[in-house]
Amino acid sequence: MANHSFPSSRRGNANLSRGRLIDMKKELQGKTYYDPVTNPSGLIDISGASNEGMRDFLEEFCKNKKQTPSIAEFLEYGGVTGPPELQKAVSDLINDWFHPSVPIEPENILPTNGVSSLLDMVAFNIADANEGVLVPTPMYSMFEQDLCSRAQLNIIPVTMSRPLDQFDASHKKSFIEVFERSLKSAQRSGIRVKAVLICNPCNPVGRFYSRDTLMVIASFCGKHGLHLVADEIYALSGFESPDGFDNFTSVLSLQNDPKQGILIQNIHSFYGASKDWSMGGLRLGFLITRNAELWNTCRRLALFTWVTPFSTSFFTDFITDKENTKKYIALNQTRLREKYLLTTAAMREQKVPFHPANGGLFIWVDLSRWLGYFPGNDNITNPGESRETQLCRFLVERGVYMRMGELSLSSVPGHFRFVYTSPGDEGHIAVRRIRKACIDLESQNSMEKYSFDSETATQSSLQEEGYESRGKETGMKALKIARQAKAHWRRFLCM
Ligand SMILES: Cc1ncc(COP(=O)(O)O)c(C=O)c1O
Repeated sequence: MANHSFPSSRRGNANLSRGRLIDMKKELQGKTYYDPVTNPSGLIDISGASNEGMRDFLEEFCKNKKQTPSIAEFLEYGGVTGPPELQKAVSDLINDWFHPSVPIEPENILPTNGVSSLLDMVAFNIADANEGVLVPTPMYSMFEQDLCSRAQLNIIPVTMSRPLDQFDASHKKSFIEVFERSLKSAQRSGIRVKAVLICNPCNPVGRFYSRDTLMVIASFCGKHGLHLVADEIYALSGFESPDGFDNFTSVLSLQNDPKQGILIQNIHSFYGASKDWSMGGLRLGFLITRNAELWNTCRRLALFTWVTPFSTSFFTDFITDKENTKKYIALNQTRLREKYLLTTAAMREQKVPFHPANGGLFIWVDLSRWLGYFPGNDNITNPGESRETQLCRFLVERGVYMRMGELSLSSVPGHFRFVYTSPGDEGHIAVRRIRKACIDLESQNSMEKYSFDSETATQSSLQEEGYESRGKETGMKALKIARQAKAHWRRFLCM
């Protein structure tokens, strides 16, 4: 049959080259997932940042919830940005936990159906198509979709020569120098830069920026006329760091200081229900801004981010009870810390290298030393073929799926985001599977060596490897196994 489908728009089609995450997920189709009882060898997918550790608390809350709005109330449209009680409840929450330098009023809040929608909306309203936003790397991997798919902005990466130094106050000067260089280089390529976007704590590495660092970033923004936008969706998912790292400081807590370029009207925070509250299904995100023009332009687009009466009623009830909120936050932080300590202990024991963290739901795992077992390069402009992608697929075959660092524009190939909040023993088993995969790579590689030797038929290499003493027959057997291993390995690479 002839193809009668009409083409999509150019900008729609342009998005097909973005969103590799969607393609990676497609590759997993057909895999069966881990279940301790029914499928213990299934794939452990620790790629998604969700926290199931507070389910019992939430279920208890639902059981004890006295008032339930009528079906009619739930099925009505409701207000585009929800009822006024929601804005009041969120402003109270922010005043209690984010320590804003001036109290946040309900009219500073704009509710939307999630932070993803909010990022898209604010991107549209702070910059025009082809303008730029400076984003420190490694960045939240979906920023590319959020800022580029519809608003068509350019992400200008801000990359420290030693990644992760940026969180520490002692490196604030060099961090700003990198910001300055990235800004200049964007300008030289004709890109007008309109904003800085940070994620605090940083997804994917789980670190908080120090207050001093936030201050210098804010000054840099003021000096160059840029908005400072902070995605603070994991603000309260932090814990006392065994490594002495900083804890959460909100950009809203910075004092207005025009002399230093800190202009709080141009500093905006994003918050939501998905992470700290484990309520991703509610689809709620909040713009918190003291910039009336930004609020108004966003309100004009809120028809596309309409919130539901069920979500707003549930969330308002949950956070209005301050005792409940306090208990929830404390318990969540305690549980996150315990799970983090258990997971990192397992990583140490199994010799899986990682960077310590104390915020968000993730650990930045460093598998760079195993990249050498794969052919190709680390060119992320041709990412489907990078060694990191091959390693990712290899790990999937060994039963673990983690999000790749290159999706976060990580400057050091071989990093993966390990979400440690999965239920039960999954995290532990995932660590063991990673270790096993690394060992398999190492042993397959030495097999590979024998196989190559067979082509040049050098008896001497077999001698070096100690096969001579075991006789020719044993040597031939080793070559046969090596060939099988090599063929097996090739199959992984061509998945
Ligand atoms: C840093 C960050 N921002 C935004 C989002 C999206 O949040 P929402 O569920 O509110 O759309 C996520 C989800 O993973 C995230 O990690």
